[in-house]
Amino acid sequence: HQQIEESLRILNEFAAQYFHDALLQSEEGQTIGLSYFKERGFRTEIIEQFRLGYCPEDGSSFYKAAIEKGYAPEMLEKSGLCKNSNGRWYDTYRGRVIFPIQGMTGRVLGFGARILKTNEKSPKYINSPENELYVKSRVLYGLYQSRQSMGKADECYLVEGYTDVISLHQGGVDNVVSSSGTSLTEDQLRVIGRTTKNLTILYDGDSAGIKAAMRGMDMALAQSFNVKLALLPEGHDPDSYIQAVGASAFHTYIADHKEDIIGFRMEVGMKEAANDPAKKSKLVNEIAETISRIDKAEDFALQDYYIKQSSERLQVDEQGMINLVNKFIR
Ligand code: UTP
Ligand code: MN
Ligand code: MN
Ligand code: MN
Ligand code: MN
Repeated sequence: HQQIEESLRILNEFAAQYFHDALLQSEEGQTIGLSYFKERGFRTEIIEQFRLGYCPEDGSSFYKAAIEKGYAPEMLEKSGLCKNSNGRWYDTYRGRVIFPIQGMTGRVLGFGARILKTNEKSPKYINSPENELYVKSRVLYGLYQSRQSMGKADECYLVEGYTDVISLHQGGVDNVVSSSGTSLTEDQLRVIGRTTKNLTILYDGDSAGIKAAMRGMDMALAQSFNVKLALLPEGHDPDSYIQAVGASAFHTYIADHKEDIIGFRMEVGMKEAANDPAKKSKLVNEIAETISRIDKAEDFALQDYYIKQSSERLQVDEQGMINLVNKFIR
């Protein structure tokens, strides 16, 4: 096992360097891959920092280079970098731009590879298969580049995708990781928790993002994180939003929209309840029950704060809210 892990590590390092050089030094890489990244607003410095790359289109240039260097075909297959079909070898990521996925210490554990023009036939991203080195449930994209700042700021931002991590770094938010490709796992949260217990989830403002955020918040609360959440405007993810409005407006947006769990439930609930009195009454009761669970002896001010907040945001009478909360305390 350990030997396979070490071989994969060495192979991945070779591959990352190959793809990175192909992006920056080959004509094809420059005209196709590099101009793609530039059009997305990624500057050279960030391309270097994240070791972004490109895999040539022709189909087997990487395979040939790796064989020439003495890498075994079985390892090329195990790593997911190459595939064999009817006796012919080809590069899995051909014609795609490459995002190396690094572990805490910078080792390249695997890759995400994006197609340049999305279509229905092929997936937008292909990721490394699970193997001795790449264990999806434990990997966090951006951890290597972000960990120091996560410690210093004593906070971690969690985003959905590779490009969200990269654009936020470029905009000066450098304490950010992505669960990339999987829904957030207990292990990923444990890894974050070793550096900081303050987590801010920044997910896409679509229904999938809201659902994933709810689930992530519950998981984080269960691991005693202090968890906050800001949803991006509908149709945006952190990458597209910071690229559209700039770093300073992005920071303002996050500061204005950061919610704790109760605030977020109210926000989502009020949208859902819009013109439905039954839904709204259910929501008011749920929030009152949650508020009642705050230990009053320990945090009277917090309970008071939530009662004021919720009566305002749910548009109910404050005394009515107090009575309702008290009903749940016994
Ligand atoms: P998104 O669909 O939000 O992609 O998926 P994105 O990160 O915004 O990528 P761009 O901006 O279109 O390039 C979020 C994350 O889910 C994983 C990737 O890690 C992606 O970054 N994903 C998505 C896959 O693994 N495969 C896919 O086909 C799509
Ligand atoms: Mn370089
Ligand atoms: Mn999404
Ligand atoms: Mn995106
Ligand atoms: Mn996205």
